[in-house]
This record gives sequence, structure tokens and C-alpha cells, in this order.
Amino acid sequence: MTTIIYYFTGTGNTLAAARMLAEELGDTKLIPLRRAMYYGGSAPEADAVGIAFPVHFLDMPAIVRQFVFNILFNEESYIFGLATCGEPHGGALFRLQELLDEKGYKLSAGFTLVMPENFIGPVNLMNDVSRREEKFAAASARIPAIASAIRERRVAVPEGSNSGLWQLGGRLSRHLATVVYDTPSHLHATAACNQCRTCERICPTRNITVKKDGVTFGDDCTQCYACIHWCPNGAIEIGGRTKGKARYHHPDVTVRDMLDQRGE
Ligand SMILES: Cc1cc2nc3c(=O)[nH]c(=O)nc-3n(C[C@H](O)[C@H](O)[C@H](O)COP(=O)(O)O)c2cc1C
Repeated sequence: MTTIIYYFTGTGNTLAAARMLAEELGDTKLIPLRRAMYYGGSAPEADAVGIAFPVHFLDMPAIVRQFVFNILFNEESYIFGLATCGEPHGGALFRLQELLDEKGYKLSAGFTLVMPENFIGPVNLMNDVSRREEKFAAASARIPAIASAIRERRVAVPEGSNSGLWQLGGRLSRHLATVVYDTPSHLHATAACNQCRTCERICPTRNITVKKDGVTFGDDCTQCYACIHWCPNGAIEIGGRTKGKARYHHPDVTVRDMLDQRGE
């Protein structure tokens, strides 16, 4: 059985989850969806295709939506979703199901995995530090059951809740963070920046430019928060709201992995 898992990650949780699942399934190829987007067209032949992403605003990140919208899957493939989240995940996988439906494909199953939170601003939700080990343990304990469901080609309603309240909550929280507070325009580098260019090199949308006279953020931010969390000097902030707050990335994921995601 061949499986392909397309993944997108900001701070490594989704990549770590996809790796665990790939190892459990065997004969599985991990492809960064950011790189697959450059080539466009059709997904390579595979018996099963997974789409792994972090939940953003109870939905898919914009970049993942764009990927799913543009790629052609093999109609025979068993398609599944894997959404990592800090909790709550709401209807993120239902949004994936709707998008695939519109394109004439079927999401056969959707699994959620609770992982450490990485939403640091404009409201800091990263208060789950003491629960991180517990979350990692619970996530890896769930992987064999997810792999069995995929191996057996089980068809099920996606995990999560598609209630109107969650849909409204998702739209409202995205609107508050993106339009009302306008997170992307509050991104800036402080004097702690030493122009190492880590942010520029890992940004999945190539939205950051580092020059001697400063760091510029463009208008194509997908809000994955990679720049904030991976800066080795903690020099990237969202307005004044992230100042002094701890940063996070998955312990088994490296800057090298983030560069691979982008094809560097
Ligand atoms: C902009 C943004 C929005 C988020 N929204 C949600 C959410 O609605 N629900 C949730 O459970 N987690 C949310 N999270 C947390 C991430 O889904 C979670 O930490 C995820 O595992 C991060 O995966 P990654 O390391 O692969 O990027 C959000 C994170 C970010 C950066």
C-alpha cells in the first residue's frame, strides 16, 4: 500500500504527527504541500492520500485551502485529513470535506490530534506548557488507532463538530485576529534581530525580507507563526502583545525541516 501525506507546519507539530503516522503505516511518503504547490497539477498515484495541517481559527490555514483548491487527486485514492490543534478544533476537517466535495472528491475520514498550542498573539493562548508532555504522549498513543483506520480504509464522519456555533466562532476569531487587530501588519523585528535570515528562509509564503536596514513583512502572511517561534533571538513580535512571552516549536523538528518544507 502506498500512502502520500501532504503536510503543512508552522512550528513542527503537524510534521511530527505526520512522521509518526508515516512510520506506523509504512510505505508512506511525506510531501510538504508548500513544495507540491510550486509544481501544481496532479498528485502522484497513491492508494491513500493524507492532508495534514494545523487548525487555524477552527478551520484550515489559508495556504492549505489554496493547495487543496489547486491540486488534482486521483479519484480512486482514499483521502483522509489529519488536523493538529491546541484545542478546540471545531469543524476544521468539515471545511476540508466541503472543499473536497466542491471539487468532486470525497474525504473518507478526518482525524484530530491535540498538540501543544502555538497561538501566541494577539491573545496568548500558550498557557498549556505544563500539559505539553501529556499532549505528546496522548498524541503518540492515538497514532496506531489512526493508522489502523487508514489501513482498513474506514469511512467515517470527520472528527470535530460542525455546529453553527463553531462555524461562527471560527469566522469571528479569524476576523478579529486578521481584520480587526490585523496581526500581519503588527509583525515586526526588534533590536534583538541580528539579520540571521532564519525568518526569511523558513517563511512558507516568502513574505519576509531581511536587509541590513531592517526586516520587511509583505502582505502574504498565512499566519502560521513560524517566524515568531523559530527566530533564534526571539526578535519577532506581534505589536507589543508577544513581548516577554515564551516561544515554542516541536522538540523533534528543526530549522532544517522548515527549510525542506519550502524547498531550500
Ligand atoms: C493563527 C493560529 C490559529 C489557531 N487556531 C486554533 C484553533 O482555532 N483551534 C485550535 O485548537 N488550535 C488553534 N491553533 C493552534 C494550532 O492549531 C496548534 O498549535 C497546531 O498543532 C500547530 O501546528 P504546527 O506546529 O504544525 O503549525 C492556532 C494557531 C495559530 C498560529
